[in-house]
Amino acid sequence: MAVQLNYIAPQGWVPDNPDENYIIVQFKISLADFVPKEAFLDGAASVAAESSTGTWTKVDEGPDSGIKLADEYKAVVFDIDQNNHMFKVAYKVDLFEPDNMSGFLAGPAGNIGGMKMVKGVRIFDMRFPKKMVQAFPGPRYGIEGIRNLLDQDDTHWNMPIMGTVPKPKVGRTAKEQAILARRMFSAGTGDYDFIKDDENLTSLLFNRFEERAKLVNEAIADVEKQSGKKKLYLCNLTHSNIDTMIKRAELIKETGGRCMMIDVVTTGFAAVHTMRLKNPGLAIHAHRAMHAFITRESGKGIGGEGEIEGFSISMATLAKLCRLLGVDSIHTGSPKAKMEDYGESEMIKDVLVTDLTPPDPKFKTLGQNWFGMKTVWPTASGGLHPGVMDVVVEKLGKDCYIQMGGGVLGHPQGIEKGVEAALEARRAIAQGISVKEYADKYPDSALAYAIKLWGTEPKIVY
Ligand code: 3PG
Ligand code: 3PG
Ligand code: MG
Repeated sequence: MAVQLNYIAPQGWVPDNPDENYIIVQFKISLADFVPKEAFLDGAASVAAESSTGTWTKVDEGPDSGIKLADEYKAVVFDIDQNNHMFKVAYKVDLFEPDNMSGFLAGPAGNIGGMKMVKGVRIFDMRFPKKMVQAFPGPRYGIEGIRNLLDQDDTHWNMPIMGTVPKPKVGRTAKEQAILARRMFSAGTGDYDFIKDDENLTSLLFNRFEERAKLVNEAIADVEKQSGKKKLYLCNLTHSNIDTMIKRAELIKETGGRCMMIDVVTTGFAAVHTMRLKNPGLAIHAHRAMHAFITRESGKGIGGEGEIEGFSISMATLAKLCRLLGVDSIHTGSPKAKMEDYGESEMIKDVLVTDLTPPDPKFKTLGQNWFGMKTVWPTASGGLHPGVMDVVVEKLGKDCYIQMGGGVLGHPQGIEKGVEAALEARRAIAQGISVKEYADKYPDSALAYAIKLWGTEPKIVY
């Protein structure tokens, strides 16, 4: 560690008009065992140096060395919490290309992860200035646009959109998946909204992408003709070759589809940005497989107090990046069902559905002014069933996608009854009663049978 310039702001310093001038990043570090506690500020300075204009040793500072501009553009550490080893870093907006997510991340989320003096770094949040927010496309549709795309009338408006990922995850042929779509969309009152591919289903020998897109979209066109109710197929076009994804997006469009699903972490930021700009008008559903390898932190310090154990970036930060890049819906996790519940799904929801995301001192989040950028649908998935729908709506609000795989296809009376139970649960919420009250009132309903089997709490996905 050799910090040449002074990367620590004077005490009490705050950035001047940050929404115009600075990117702010909230860090927390854990010092390596061989580093004394007193070296915390050196560690913080190294984070700012390495992620902006400095390096591991002093370098030439004579004429033509660039040191003058390096000093002007250096990032600075401020708002230091010595007890919890937390601090913010302010980066001048012109230190980065405003519309280049990959280039930007190479700074604050780059080499600092390799610094020897730390054994853990977590990025709790990033707050972007207007210049950067406005340089990205943001969602094409957003919450309102998707409702319009589905021609939702007043009975749906202000209610969650519900759908299913066929289970087993992989197993059905394209033809069988189309049969399932037809059955689900025709069940009950015909109001079920979407079917989504699971992440492992791309283009497989027994279920080719082209055939699946064509057959499922044909099935949807048929049921739409009969019921007049529009549906979504979140069709997984994920591929490591962007040209292939573009071809697949075009095929979705040609076969009448309205939406694509893309795995945003495995395909990467450049792919998401490019797909947003080059796809033929489809809505983008963002699945986030692999995010836990980046976002997961098992130490107590995930809430601020206590130690962190590894290197991570919060999912709320990734969700912000995805909103900038232009997805229309993204997974937030099911409240309580998967990783330790510390309010993460609500935190993610907050950055997706607001124009002015408030900072939350409890979770050390920075908030965000979105300057009118369209909103994004939070998507709850994993371990959900009709008995838990009111809990999800209470946590994520009515503008959310609710995905129930096992929770619909595992209904004791069959698939159609599973859909019916989900629709009844939504009706209960619309009527302002809990799903439990609905089931008590109608003991022979599909919802009552679902609750008898699964209860009214989310299933923990171990
Ligand atoms: C899905 O296919 O719906 C997901 O794999 C659920 O996972 P996540 O919502 O926790 O990302
Ligand atoms: C997953 O991959 O985890 C899911 O798609 C969620 O499915 P579930 O609703 O059956 O938990
Ligand atoms: Mg899945």
